[in-house]
Amino acid sequence: MNVNEHEYYNDLANWSFDEFDYVSENYTNWVYEDKINEYANINSRILDLGTAGGEKLLKHFPDCAEILGTDFSEEMIKTANENLARSGRKNVHFKVMNNLEMTTPDEYFDIVTARHTIIDAKQIYKTLKPGGHLILRGVDKLDCWSLKKMFSRGQAFHDVKPISQIDYENILEAGFKDVELVPLHVIEYFKSKEKLYDFLLKVPILMDISEEESNEYDSMPIDYELFEKYVSENTTEKGIKLIRRYYGIVAKK
Ligand SMILES: C[S@@+](CC[C@H](N)C(=O)[O-])C[C@H]1O[C@@H](n2cnc3c(N)ncnc32)[C@H](O)[C@@H]1O
Repeated sequence: MNVNEHEYYNDLANWSFDEFDYVSENYTNWVYEDKINEYANINSRILDLGTAGGEKLLKHFPDCAEILGTDFSEEMIKTANENLARSGRKNVHFKVMNNLEMTTPDEYFDIVTARHTIIDAKQIYKTLKPGGHLILRGVDKLDCWSLKKMFSRGQAFHDVKPISQIDYENILEAGFKDVELVPLHVIEYFKSKEKLYDFLLKVPILMDISEEESNEYDSMPIDYELFEKYVSENTTEKGIKLIRRYYGIVAKK
């Protein structure tokens, strides 16, 4: 069944992207949240694109002059405002905005962050102050490759160019300098196959989403026999292994 990306995220609005039940092992020392804290100071204005329910922003972003979290899902922003009220944080607000049709003022933000969401480098460049930074973490083509290969499908499975390279080239083309692209190697261990299965039902890893194609999410059912095969081949003492491949980018205007 094909679902529109916007509907897909609206339906997930009450589920926190911060509550995955796995243990993570990082093999690189580039940490997205640390980068934000490194570049921000008390006077910073930060824009977080594709903020979802704002969980990461509210938990990890430092106190500063202004933080705006945006998402194209109205339901996500509703959840973010509920999370904000509970958090007691100051100088934070949320609004609905499409990352591809940004309505934020020109040369206004010191930092734009984007974690696991689509971006338009030119529009980000416009809204950043000169000297401001873009800090991004993405999910690369090789993410969960052994799983996607077993199913012969999944996020970016059919992409000709890895998403990291597309982002990197677009960021350079937009005019950014000092662009640093870092591959991030992470292994996640799930305690049980039920937890892994539940995770795969929620995240779009096994959905055929391609950079070359539209924003339709193809939510085919997960073949349980193949899933069992993956589990039996990847069960370790630490749990069921899922090899992740993210990428981090820091770029300066
Ligand atoms: C995988 S979630 C990541 C959420 C959060 N940044 C995090 O790292 O936990 C992707 C988010 O991007 C949002 N999104 C996807 N496409 C978007 C677009 N074109 N404009 C704005 N938000 C978008 C979705 O609604 C969703 O909340």
